[in-house]
Amino acid sequence: MYRSHNCGELRIEHVGQDVKLSGWIHKIRDKGSLLWIDLRDRYGITQIIIDINESSKDLVNQVKKIGREYVVSVKGIVKERQSKNPNIKTGDIEISLSEVEILNESKIPPFTIDDNTDGGDELRMKYRYLDLRRNLIKNNLIFRNNVTLEIRKYLNESGFIDVETPYLIKSTPEGARDFVVPSRINKGEFYALPQSPQTFKQLLMVGGMDKYYQIVKCFRDEDLRSDRQPEFTQIDCEMSFVEQDDVLMLFENLVKNTFKKCIGVELDNFPKISYWEAIENYGSDKPDTRFEMKIFDCSESSKGKGFKILDDSEYVCGITVNTTEPFTRKQIDQYTDWVKQPQIGAKGLIWIKHNSDGSFKSSIDKFYNHDDLLSIVGDFSKDSTTFLIYGSKMKSLNQLGQLRLKIADDLGMIDEKKFCPLWVNDFPLFEFDEDENKYHSIHHPFTSPKDKNINTIEKEPSGVVADAYDLVINGNEIGGGSIRIHNRDLQNQIFSILGFNEKEAKDQFGFLMNAFEYGAPPHGGIAFGLDRLVAVMNGDNSIRDYIAFPKNNSGRDLMIDSPSLIDKNQLDELNIKLK
Ligand code: AMO
Repeated sequence: MYRSHNCGELRIEHVGQDVKLSGWIHKIRDKGSLLWIDLRDRYGITQIIIDINESSKDLVNQVKKIGREYVVSVKGIVKERQSKNPNIKTGDIEISLSEVEILNESKIPPFTIDDNTDGGDELRMKYRYLDLRRNLIKNNLIFRNNVTLEIRKYLNESGFIDVETPYLIKSTPEGARDFVVPSRINKGEFYALPQSPQTFKQLLMVGGMDKYYQIVKCFRDEDLRSDRQPEFTQIDCEMSFVEQDDVLMLFENLVKNTFKKCIGVELDNFPKISYWEAIENYGSDKPDTRFEMKIFDCSESSKGKGFKILDDSEYVCGITVNTTEPFTRKQIDQYTDWVKQPQIGAKGLIWIKHNSDGSFKSSIDKFYNHDDLLSIVGDFSKDSTTFLIYGSKMKSLNQLGQLRLKIADDLGMIDEKKFCPLWVNDFPLFEFDEDENKYHSIHHPFTSPKDKNINTIEKEPSGVVADAYDLVINGNEIGGGSIRIHNRDLQNQIFSILGFNEKEAKDQFGFLMNAFEYGAPPHGGIAFGLDRLVAVMNGDNSIRDYIAFPKNNSGRDLMIDSPSLIDKNQLDELNIKLK
């Protein structure tokens, strides 16, 4: 027997008991007459003590051979501590050591395994199995498990069944690039790893499964960011005989239930805003609504005063920042440089300071008098600075949306404890790609247009509204879904607008089109990004420390050192020649 208890279990009521614990050496302290060991496992830390005296000489010698992260078993009697430690669950007791056995030695770890580690990101990734011993990562994984457990319970109780779909599938366009896997048996042919189980879940609906879910790995070969990994997990769901409101109601309740059960937070009903409302008010289709500072359109009020830059702009929009301390010239210059950097791409930043006495100072004083400025910023905005951005509509809104987030962050306007979920819906079905001169689906090609738009699809693709929705929490896209097309002709029509000829559509999606000819029910669904959901619930934007073995920003697993070259025989067998 390795242990009678774990390292987080013993309490004052165990005093007097003989116990055996096993775990890792967290710390050893030598105080001359006493030796202390902190023994750690997943459940906590227990303090072990040894009185240094003649009778404990052998034991002390044994303990002195032990180093950090050794795996040991200890036997002893539980005692009440003289000075208690309220910061740990076992802080009322300690174990007076009688026997110790080294189960395995450890090299000195490359970083300290503690809450505040000295290990940098790369080192932590390379030795992830040591990083997992730290509370931060361990607790994140335990939290993730709690979340998935609650979600599984909720979905099972709501009649969903968990069905697995294949990982070796066919390459299809779904936004990102596919990871592909060569087939040895079918030389020159490739499988693709699924970007999501989208078409399979639709086929499950054709198969009569009615309510499906799967907590499933998805793979996308895209540029990585803190909220994106090349392999990530979706809570993927689909239902038959539903309309948008049915889906939103069920999954809003799922999210509310998960927040309540896992972090004790009661969420209010989620507001619904349209895609255009989100873009025009926040400059983003995933708005952070934890703070106001909405964008306003001042294209009308700012034009016609002889200032060519604005007169010639398609769109002018602004945000007003209320500050007790007015922005300094230096701060304004910094924001100007910030919006002009290539990643943001604004042409410039106009500022208007509205003083408490009602007077103005602005970068456009030469062209705009007091009344002109007042009509741009409005009377309500005294003690504030207004920033204007101009250019094409989408770009200006996007740039100002980014400035909105930056200023809120800089000024500490975001309440980190707050959760502001919302549904964004009424997305356009397509966006036009000027470079490629063709339409793309904003969600994916299986998204149904709103019924009212079905007759105008050919004539005015840009005006078609999708029966699609995203769940956004605190500025993060947590989930997305739609009501699907279940009619072969309509699906064909969409493929043709997306530029697929009949053969291409048949080659890539023939299986789905065929299925639509055998009684496909109306259906719809959603997929949540599990990694993002758990990170956001914990107040984080980065998903990496919620994944046991993540990739770095170059898509590498530094621990197993992948991707890696494969040997020539393997390549030959797969009929692959490298240049
Ligand atoms: P979508 O592409 O919006 O929809 O993906 C659903 C959710 O998955 C998460 N997500 C990611 N998380 C981490 N890393 C990534 N690289 C990554 N990409 C996406 C996001 C996103 O909202 N088949 C559709 C769903 C449907 O229509 O039902 C789909 O995959 O949180």
